[in-house]
Amino acid sequence: MHRFASESMQNIKPSELDIIWAKAAELTAQGKDIVNFGIGRPDFDTPAPIKEKAVQAMNKGEVHYTLPRGMEELRQAISDELKQRHDVSYDPASEIMVTVGCVEGITCLLMTVLDPGDEVLVPSPMYPFYWGWAEFLGGRTVEAPLSRENGYQITEKALEKAITPKTKVMIINTPCNPTGVCQEMGGLKAAAKVAQRHDLLVISDEIYGRLTYDGVEHISLTSLPGMKERTVLTTSFSKAFAMDGWRVGYLAGPAELVKDMDNAHLRASTCASVISQYGAIEALRLGEELVAPMRERLEKRRDLIFDMVDQAPGLSAVKPRGAFYLWLEYGDVGMSDMDLSLYLLEKAQVAGISGSAFGASVKRGMRLSYATDRKTIEKGMKRLIAAFQNL
Ligand SMILES: Cc1ncc(COP(=O)(O)O)c(C=O)c1O
Repeated sequence: MHRFASESMQNIKPSELDIIWAKAAELTAQGKDIVNFGIGRPDFDTPAPIKEKAVQAMNKGEVHYTLPRGMEELRQAISDELKQRHDVSYDPASEIMVTVGCVEGITCLLMTVLDPGDEVLVPSPMYPFYWGWAEFLGGRTVEAPLSRENGYQITEKALEKAITPKTKVMIINTPCNPTGVCQEMGGLKAAAKVAQRHDLLVISDEIYGRLTYDGVEHISLTSLPGMKERTVLTTSFSKAFAMDGWRVGYLAGPAELVKDMDNAHLRASTCASVISQYGAIEALRLGEELVAPMRERLEKRRDLIFDMVDQAPGLSAVKPRGAFYLWLEYGDVGMSDMDLSLYLLEKAQVAGISGSAFGASVKRGMRLSYATDRKTIEKGMKRLIAAFQNL
């Protein structure tokens, strides 16, 4: 670390995710045929109409700052989308902010609400970058481990155990990265009850909300009674529209809080890229027409990877019903899950992310991203299963 690096920055250690990614890249650069199940982004190209709209905008000279909260046309489209998908009304002028992906939205929100010492409660296994935000701001991330026995559904008991007088915010992510689990109504109600009982602000990260399988309908936490006023819904175009490099997303929440966030958002980004905002307008206009074909392909890949795991001796998984991750479970292999990931990378040339990247309390498990083609999934899983058998 540079001598000028702040103390809070020095306390943020690199995630195990970064270590596996770097190692996989190094081996690939050496010419090794690595099957990479580590990457958390779609392998699809951004749909052509989205790209065309962005190019047209650029060619028309739409190259300047937009309003900090985002283009009015986009905010209106977001408001319509939320009403139509979740039957929740958001005022585009005061309750919606276009952000530079989900990440910038969550960063600005936490900058706005956290004081030193405050705690952020997150059910785990959890998206690795939830850890570090609070710490950077002088707060603390506290995990509420969920159990395999009830399919990683949220329970009041699991959340209550992790609540302290300092808990101020709770982050709920469904469909979940890394487990692919969609919270059912019971899990959502449990989260809502605990949030209301302890007067918590809820960040509902619904970035995979459009990617659900087996006919599962994504339920937004904001649609539960009494939750809209204490919830900020965050999402982006990164996953369902294969626009992760465009860096555009949005959040919707109470008007006063969105107003309070203006300060942080202005300093962090001024506004999201105008070109990406044009693309996002087109993404919302065509919606399902663009998402459905990608979702169908992902669902078939989910079937393939899940069936291979299901039939493999010693391996198991809760069937993922959303996102594009499978949470691989295995018995005692005589080494830590990080060592196991590195071992599989060297021996089987397969990159999967070790469970402990998804929470300090997670001791065993591996996230496999199936956002890759079927042939690669088959090849990688055959290697992985053989390597587990030889352990
Ligand atoms: C649960 C979750 N939230 C947020 C993000 C960040 O997404 P964005 O590209 O919108 O910043 C990711 C990306 O992997 C994610 O999995």
